[in-house]
Amino acid sequence: MLYHRIEELRVEVQKWKKEGLTVGLVPTMGALHNGHMSLIKKAKETCDKVVVSDFVNPIQFGPSEDFDKYPRTLEADVELCDKEGVDIVFAPSADEMYGEGQRLSNDTLTYVCPPFFYVNTLCGKSRTGHFDGVCTVVLKLFNIVQPNYAFFGQKDAQQVIIIKKMVKDLNVPINIVQCPIVREESGLALSSRNKYLTEEGKKDALVLSRILNNIKTCYEKGITDVLALKETAYSFLTDKHDLEYLEIVDRNTLEAKMIADDESIALIACRVEGVRLIDNIYLKED
Ligand code: PAF
Repeated sequence: MLYHRIEELRVEVQKWKKEGLTVGLVPTMGALHNGHMSLIKKAKETCDKVVVSDFVNPIQFGPSEDFDKYPRTLEADVELCDKEGVDIVFAPSADEMYGEGQRLSNDTLTYVCPPFFYVNTLCGKSRTGHFDGVCTVVLKLFNIVQPNYAFFGQKDAQQVIIIKKMVKDLNVPINIVQCPIVREESGLALSSRNKYLTEEGKKDALVLSRILNNIKTCYEKGITDVLALKETAYSFLTDKHDLEYLEIVDRNTLEAKMIADDESIALIACRVEGVRLIDNIYLKED
């Protein structure tokens, strides 16, 4: 059930397809937590067969980002997937994905570049090239696995919006399923990067969900002016928090709002103990 090679995976998936079975793909970078497990559960409910990809994609990390120290826990990931009844864990090497010895740059490789408007905002402002790297690897995984469905978490809201846009613009015949954010009881959104935080840091990190919940409560009380809603955040921030952005935008198009409405999403990125954390909330749940 653990495959490292594209060809082996293809042979197996083609067999399923011939039998008329539906295939779900859950793309991950490993270090699986309950957030990933919720995607896997949804995939199991929706599809006959489930593939989980486990690949820390080098081309979506900037030169000063955490590619080298990103948690790699393949053995534990496979065990979790096994328990959940996943059919294949696909864990290719970078050489397998991009070609042996291939220089990983858009001078030498074909990249997928989402529209400027979608990538030059929110996380894209500080992570140049990040979403090109994400879309490139996701489209490659789509072409390798050819699933009927692919599952992504709302935690990475900008990522899902951009992937949906890519799928629409490039006529990719795959249904994208977005799954809700999974949180610790404290409210902290699950993330592989939470592993970098101390216990103290985890407490300080609760500021993200507190700010977002407070914005939602204010919206429910009738405050719709985006500047006024954003203002409410400042009383929560201390010198332990390095706020990168707090924005309220349209949850389907990422367009900035002056006046919030039921289609709005509030998104935040903030560093705690030097760890970059993101979170978001719909001002009105579906
Ligand atoms: O969300 C992630 O873990 C990654 O960005 C993804 C979608 C697996 C692509 O590498």
